[in-house]
Amino acid sequence: MKRVLLITLIAVMAAGGAVFAAGSQDQSGGLDIGIAMPETHVLRWVTDGKKLQENATKLGYNAEVVWADGDQTKQNKQIEDFITKGAKLIVVASINTGINTVLADAAKAGIEIISYDRLLMDSGDFNYYTTFNLKKVGFLQATAIEQALDLKNAKEPQYITLFAGSPTDNNAYFFYDGAMEVLNPYIASGKLVVVGPYPKTSADKTNFQRIATEGWRAENAKARMENLLTNDAKDVVLDAVLAPNDPVGRAIVEACSNDAKYDTIEKLPIITGQDGELPTVQYILENKQYMTVFKDSRLLADATIQLADAILKGQTPNIPGTEKTTFNTNVKDVTTYLLDPILVTKDNVKKVIIDSGYYTADELKSIGQ
Ligand code: BGC
Repeated sequence: MKRVLLITLIAVMAAGGAVFAAGSQDQSGGLDIGIAMPETHVLRWVTDGKKLQENATKLGYNAEVVWADGDQTKQNKQIEDFITKGAKLIVVASINTGINTVLADAAKAGIEIISYDRLLMDSGDFNYYTTFNLKKVGFLQATAIEQALDLKNAKEPQYITLFAGSPTDNNAYFFYDGAMEVLNPYIASGKLVVVGPYPKTSADKTNFQRIATEGWRAENAKARMENLLTNDAKDVVLDAVLAPNDPVGRAIVEACSNDAKYDTIEKLPIITGQDGELPTVQYILENKQYMTVFKDSRLLADATIQLADAILKGQTPNIPGTEKTTFNTNVKDVTTYLLDPILVTKDNVKKVIIDSGYYTADELKSIGQ
């Protein structure tokens, strides 16, 4: 009899464990936190997704992570699935505003949403956003160009071609505008000459569209660079190319390397990037890509899950190491926590990315480190 009672008690505890649980973690096996990442063709999202899940699990949450292959319809299904599974909070980096109907569904179901790295535009269905200082990313890219070409003292005009990120991503506008605040004065004074379209800022939608990289797909950037090399850039030697992120930067390296004018590493233009992707770390060590902007996703994941924890426990969030501000979605201001991006060149790549343990020993082996 006693034994039956004990077994029954264990079964009840296993099924309804939440009753005994402290805080808001769901001990019954239901989903606490759904993590929806946009794509894997840009490698950072693989790390971001894994780190977010790891951090949530460490705090005792039941967390699931999914990637959407750059397809908003697919991500919407993944989010509907999180809603069905009873998620209490969703962390999402979307592909485009096609997500908004499903965000509204989640909000109706009482689910908290954190906009991760990319701001969910034209939506009023969430309250929090975590990201890096976006304008500073562009500022660092342009500053690297300014220094590498010694623009302050340049006697001859230097030639540059401009690339931007995906027009479907609000971040792309901030990156570009941050860079152009540094470059525009040099263009105005004639020290820097733009080859190809020149939107002074992202507000010049027509020209921005011309330099944009739809879906952040490297193959689109490569095709555009190849086209430039046989047209606008045919009779000039480019000194620099502003590339918004690492896959685009590497695509530009590939396209240039196939052109006789840039057929040795020394002849390649100064090419920028962002994200500290492993193949780019290799390119930086080999002098193929000049720089990257490192956005440590360990820190962003950590800040985001700390925020999620505070929200789920009904506490006032206090996220150390971030700058608190607001961003506007066109519908409302959302509380935003910003982290600081870091400029990485060959001089500090080892210290900042390799020695800090961002990549595992096995991953580093693949690039001979
Ligand atoms: C991110 C970048 C990334 C790009 C392409 C942006 O929203 O901030 O880090 O390179 O998307 O995935």
